[in-house]
Amino acid sequence: MLINRIAILGGTGFVGHSLCNRLAREGYKLKVLTRNREYNRDNLILLPELDLVETNIHDPNQLEQQTSDCDVVINLVGILNEKGNNGSGFEHVHVSLVEKLLHACEKNGIKRLLQMSALNADAENGKSHYLRTKGKAENILHSNTSGLNVTSFRPSVIFGRDDSFFNRFANLLKISPLFFPLACHDTKFAPIYVLDVVEIMVRSLTDPESYDKKYQLCGPKVYSLKELVEYTANVMDLNRTIIPLNDILSRIQATIFDFVPGKPFSTDNYLSAKTDSICESHDLARSGIETMPIESIVPRYLKRKDFRSNYSIFRSASRRQ
Ligand SMILES: NC(=O)c1ccc[n+]([C@@H]2O[C@H](COP(=O)([O-])OP(=O)(O)OC[C@H]3O[C@@H](n4cnc5c(N)ncnc54)[C@H](OP(=O)(O)O)[C@@H]3O)[C@@H](O)[C@H]2O)c1
Repeated sequence: MLINRIAILGGTGFVGHSLCNRLAREGYKLKVLTRNREYNRDNLILLPELDLVETNIHDPNQLEQQTSDCDVVINLVGILNEKGNNGSGFEHVHVSLVEKLLHACEKNGIKRLLQMSALNADAENGKSHYLRTKGKAENILHSNTSGLNVTSFRPSVIFGRDDSFFNRFANLLKISPLFFPLACHDTKFAPIYVLDVVEIMVRSLTDPESYDKKYQLCGPKVYSLKELVEYTANVMDLNRTIIPLNDILSRIQATIFDFVPGKPFSTDNYLSAKTDSICESHDLARSGIETMPIESIVPRYLKRKDFRSNYSIFRSASRRQ
């Protein structure tokens, strides 16, 4: 398959940065569609052959126009929380967008699409709005009749320098006193390194074997959430006692956090965490990709972060703050 240009939606995010870097290195021309070019220009605009274009991807006309010179689309757009609580935000971002994207691909004769989904995505049986809408998006794409070849990727939690998992727990642990109450502590995760996710995406791009497949992406080891948070505290040299909350208290914590700006934890997150985020099939191993354990990567960025946080202490000691 000859690829002239790849349109990437959500390419400015955590996974997007790594994917764009890798694709640019492979020599692909990229067009990253963003809601805010100024805000997201750092790092990306330095890549050769990458156009960062500000557009409203929810407007079908703009989406169609911006993808008209591309022959592949990669959709990385996803949200973990919505403004309200009725699921309409998730429907808008995960489902309606994919319907518009499918239409744009049909109009522009695009025959290849990679979709970033999530483990446990299931339109009918998913426990949260997040998982149901991710499942609906997969169904819409995989049942298309326009000859669009779709591959979906279903990762467990993804880790890497700018992840929102270890970095978030590291920040929360730093500001909490000696005790750290933890909801959904026994939910299991198999964290997968962002570059391993990128590897299978890049390999799939031109591989007809991957058409219509849904790959489950997990790292080499399974941990409970409590083990992962304890590990984070250890890496940061923080002496914290993790207090596991039972199911009722976890739900109450989520309900309270629903009202905190930015929703650090929400009822929808709580419902997602009722299902373990672990793989039934080992699709990365089958593809010959050896996955990185957290122990080889996470200390590199958490320890550095910890060191950098000392700068503010040095600055205030020298009265520069
Ligand atoms: N990170 C994980 O642990 C993990 C695990 C499983 C699945 N996933 C899935 O992997 C994908 C990428 O994750 P990520 O961690 O890289 O996410 P991220 O850093 O939050 O980036 C997501 C991107 O989506 C775009 N976006 C967000 N809300 C949008 C909206 N309302 N309308 C249009 N665009 C919007 C943003 O692009 P602009 O700001 O440029 O518009 C943003 O850069 C997501 O679909 C996520 O559900 C992630």
